[in-house]
Amino acid sequence: MIVAIDGPAASGKGTLARRIAAHYGLRHLDTGALYRAVARDILANDGDVTNPADAQHAARHLDLGSLTDPALRNRGIGEAASIVAKMPEVRKALLDCQRTFANTPPGAVLDGRDIGTVVCPGADLKLFVIASPEARANRRFLELTAENNTLTKAEVLANIHARDARDQFRDIAPLAKAEDAHLLDTTNLDIEAAFSAAVELIDPVVSRAGCVS
Ligand code: DC
Repeated sequence: MIVAIDGPAASGKGTLARRIAAHYGLRHLDTGALYRAVARDILANDGDVTNPADAQHAARHLDLGSLTDPALRNRGIGEAASIVAKMPEVRKALLDCQRTFANTPPGAVLDGRDIGTVVCPGADLKLFVIASPEARANRRFLELTAENNTLTKAEVLANIHARDARDQFRDIAPLAKAEDAHLLDTTNLDIEAAFSAAVELIDPVVSRAGCVS
């Protein structure tokens, strides 16, 4: 059983993916953390995040056990991750490990930008999670405020717009809804309501597959 969840930054897809994985006894992979970890490892080795050879080396030697490192959430790492995420060498190196993770029993929930379109085009269920830029900026602003950040709401919204543009208009594996993905707009939904909507879509698939605890 594979659930593919894609969507833009701060759409709520990560929280939703974790909830779905826990509910159905599936494993969870935040694929954005892979790109962030590649960036972290390049920088830790005094490499250059714009150099494809350094990036490919880091992607090929990635330790999947290091994905819970809190440093991955740093803003600088996020910026560097968006640079390495554009490199075909990096995406190719990370493709196999994502597919292996997805296909290991009992299955998995993967969230990212290209899961339904590139990584797991045959996923049992695909969700494309969206929310208005303003709603996403509000959520991110509240999270950042809890962490004592000094950005204004307008700056957070500008960052969201910039990240959307980078994700949607890059040449390789841009953020896009797979034709067979279900659209889930969380602009006016809290996490409980979004989770309930997802369960309504997934339950029938689980009943048919009959393979999840
Ligand atoms: O979701 P995030 O902010 O942790 O993602 C970090 C970067 O990786 C971001 O620039 C988008 C990119 N990414 C990607 O290209 N493909 C994915 N499947 C997941 C993330």
